[in-house]
Amino acid sequence: MRIKNICCIGAGYVGGPTMAVFADKCPHIQIEVVDLNEEKISNWNNKDLTKLPVYEPGLGEIIQRCRGRNLHFSNSIKEKIEAADMVFISVNTPTKTKGIGAGKASDLKWVEACARQVAKYAKGHTVVVEKSTLPVRTAETIMSILHSSKSGHNDNMQTTFNVLSNPEFLAEGTAIKDLENPDRVLIGGENHDAIKSLTEIYQNWVPKNKILTTNIWSSELAKLTANAFLAQRISSINSISALCETTGADIREVSRAIGSDSRIGSKFLDSGPGFGGSCFKKDILNLVYLAEYFGLPEIANFWEAVVHLNKWHQHRISKLIVKKLLGTVIGKKICILGFAFKANTNDTRESASINICKDLIEEGAILFINDPKVRPSQISIDLDKEENTNLKKIKDQNFLNNYEGEWCFEKNILSAAEGADAIVLLTEWENYTKIDWIDIGRRMRKPSWVFDSRSVISKEKVLEANLNLWKIGDGTLK
Ligand code: UDX
Ligand code: ADP
Repeated sequence: MRIKNICCIGAGYVGGPTMAVFADKCPHIQIEVVDLNEEKISNWNNKDLTKLPVYEPGLGEIIQRCRGRNLHFSNSIKEKIEAADMVFISVNTPTKTKGIGAGKASDLKWVEACARQVAKYAKGHTVVVEKSTLPVRTAETIMSILHSSKSGHNDNMQTTFNVLSNPEFLAEGTAIKDLENPDRVLIGGENHDAIKSLTEIYQNWVPKNKILTTNIWSSELAKLTANAFLAQRISSINSISALCETTGADIREVSRAIGSDSRIGSKFLDSGPGFGGSCFKKDILNLVYLAEYFGLPEIANFWEAVVHLNKWHQHRISKLIVKKLLGTVIGKKICILGFAFKANTNDTRESASINICKDLIEEGAILFINDPKVRPSQISIDLDKEENTNLKKIKDQNFLNNYEGEWCFEKNILSAAEGADAIVLLTEWENYTKIDWIDIGRRMRKPSWVFDSRSVISKEKVLEANLNLWKIGDGTLK
């Protein structure tokens, strides 16, 4: 079965970039990306590429090449499912906030809704592919919805389905590179023909030896496990960075030393402010829920500790900022560099900046937040607090008597540093590595502090500018 028409349900961080690369590599396949959200679809169709709903290096160029040719974005869910011979489910699966498994299990209501839409509208033989990260055995739910409606409608054509799991391993910020040149593509399924049809699509650009096929449950579990292992590495290195700071060791030296053991490997050993992003926490909690559900509490506790450590680490950073700023930040201006959960993305989901900024606001600080890609409206949602733009009008920097625990967005880093007591770098955007610390130092109130949670600033240059410096995991600084 050769696939000619694909429909992807969900035009988010996964669906959008993934289908853009599919369209680019497979000009012979028509790809329709559909979403319930009208504003999102209209942004995907915007001529001005800076308005695309997802920021990813290289994405704009692909959209320019393929949009209108074999890549289309619309809200016509019914029509596009009807025409498709392969449907990707790429919708959000956030952690449940209430009911059974609240705080841990994934909320599958959107996946279920998709399965019902496919069951209702699909015509002829349709391969349904799980792209969203899902708990193990979700395919069972999808299959049961699809199969129970098999005889439901559909004029003269018999509707049949196969379900595959094809988890996405792309990381945000490098999504296009990861999609174009993946370490591996994983396809889980039972039906040989369905697996072959998806394998053939990938073979347009991925070497065959990188396409792994497994049973459907291994594929679902492998995705959760990959994310859990990666997150575990970050919690491990962050735990050691706290020890470095008290023992005089340096986390970069420790990382280099352990990373050169080929069994450990050097990637994913950068200590930072704690992992964020839409996947790590959610997927680990999902694993924890599964372990609890299957009566394996020791396994649940083991993985849950990775998430606890991450949260503890973020609060550790907020606390040490307060401590270094003479024990109080009330009315003090603090410039925050970076709100995205990592560089090269506009995504703020689970960003360490959220917890750290919330802590500092709670302590009474006045935050001037800068980020090259995140919009103030998003920060306001994340902090659950409106921006106070009046803060920017105050010239004497005397916030102490008038304001307590506020924030505003500041595009200009020099203005954000004016009269500030501290600069806290939370996202490793490249432009922050080029800051002129002498100029910044002159503008700040003394004693002034720089907190580098990503270890990307030149220590020498900051010290030369007579600024106090804290750098993650650097036990040589006092
Ligand atoms: C992750 C997985 O990498 C990807 O395979 C999966 O499909 C989705 O989840 P993503 O969340 O986009 O991707 O970003 P990733 O690069 O993995 O970073 C996650 C978090 O860990 C970020 O907050 C990042 O800053 C942090 N991180 C990463 C570190 O603190 N140190 C590191 O060495 C690497
Ligand atoms: P991810 O990071 O997994 O891509 P996002 O939240 O960025 O998650 O995107 C998921 C998208 O799926 C959202 O744009 C949402 O509107 C869309 N969506 C959710 N349920 C449905 C549905 N039943 N039909 C169509 N689109 C849906």
